Amino acid sequence: MTHFWHSVHQLQNVDGNLVIDGCSASALMERYGSPLYVYSENRIRENFRRLQSTFRKYYSNYHVFFAVKANNNPAIVKILAEEGAGMDCSCLEETEIARSLGVESGRQLFTAVFPTPASIQEAIDRRIILNLENVRDLELINEENTPEVLSFRVNPGMGSSGKEGLIFAGPNAKFGIQASEVEYAYAEAKRRGVTRFGVHMMTGSNVHDPLYFAEIMEMLMDIIGPVVQKLGITLEFINIGGSLGVPYQPEDPELDIDKVARCVVDMLRAKLKEYDIPEPMLIQEPGRYLVADAGVLLTTVSSLKEGETTFLGVDAGMNTLLRPALYDSYHHIVPTNGMDRKNTCPYNVVGQICENTDLFSKGRKLPEKLKPGDHLAFLDVGAYGYGMSSQYNTRPRAAEVLVNDGEAYLIRKRENLEDILNKVIIPEHLTT
Ligand code: LLP
Repeated sequence: MTHFWHSVHQLQNVDGNLVIDGCSASALMERYGSPLYVYSENRIRENFRRLQSTFRKYYSNYHVFFAVKANNNPAIVKILAEEGAGMDCSCLEETEIARSLGVESGRQLFTAVFPTPASIQEAIDRRIILNLENVRDLELINEENTPEVLSFRVNPGMGSSGKEGLIFAGPNAKFGIQASEVEYAYAEAKRRGVTRFGVHMMTGSNVHDPLYFAEIMEMLMDIIGPVVQKLGITLEFINIGGSLGVPYQPEDPELDIDKVARCVVDMLRAKLKEYDIPEPMLIQEPGRYLVADAGVLLTTVSSLKEGETTFLGVDAGMNTLLRPALYDSYHHIVPTNGMDRKNTCPYNVVGQICENTDLFSKGRKLPEKLKPGDHLAFLDVGAYGYGMSSQYNTRPRAAEVLVNDGEAYLIRKRENLEDILNKVIIPEHLTT
């Protein structure tokens, strides 16, 4: 019995068969069908605890908010809420999920991109922490309805990611307010009666360089520090976003989280001293780091087409897991049985969707003689997997299962045709 995937010891090869947090992959598929998203509860808790305890070694007033968009299944969100995470929400629906799980409004951060005026008003009424990313949104705040705390999402002028589509700051980014607008934003919010402030940035996703995080901290502090000093405002929190990378490929190293924490906190302390600012709360709002490697997508080989390249068709597609088609992302694939076979045969692993980009991998080496009915597992799909899935090509979405020390719990039922059609209304003149 060995774990084979980075430090994820919840994924085990037991006599050549894949076992996820004590549950056999084959047995899960037999019970719940295919394709199937499976999440390890223990891994999620472990990821949260590693992150929190590492940062708290260096900075006790450190808090993790989970980016709900990475995985909005309330069972998953609840695990993180139980661990003590606040919630980073991109829309009111996500704040509602957080609220329904008992997360208090002061632990919900609402970072909406181009939000409607009504959603801002509702967030203020519900005392959710509002994080504005457009100075014009300030016009919606009047003195009779001033939020207790207000934060701005600042574009520090630089972003990073291995993928261009995952860079959220720097020139041309649609997110955040520019450095040149920051003083005006805070001064105007103060004039409108806000007394407690936060600052936020989210500059990219899946970043692997541990030094990057201190670098953007420096950029942010050199923007906000002088403004805090000049306006004499109280900075309650600094939120440096998510972005922590995970290893998707076998040779990728794991992010040195101790180094990230140490360098970020050193930089923060140096800058707080330079600008004479008392220590605020330090927040990070990761999605991927907490849940990506806890999730596995189990699929079944539907058919093969042999030729110059062999196409291996599975019963999941870009409708089930969009990342490869959208970002050309790598997801490691392992057979769930006969795992010890050598990966000698190149396959183009494809889905059933009528699109050329419905391709999980080109020329991926897997064991030879794979055949219809075999099961394949796609790793690291716990973040932005199910959440980005769709019903394209009239495909019902997969089911989701949570596993924990050999116990399995269905946490979202498989959809059926009725789920696809149940919001449809046919006008009367088309019914005959
Ligand atoms: N905070 C904000 C405001 C965000 O927009 C995001 C992600 C996060 C936090 C969490 O970022 P993370 O820790 O996961 O890097 N669909 C893409 C990722 C898009 C991320 C969007 N924002 C993917 O599949 O890789």
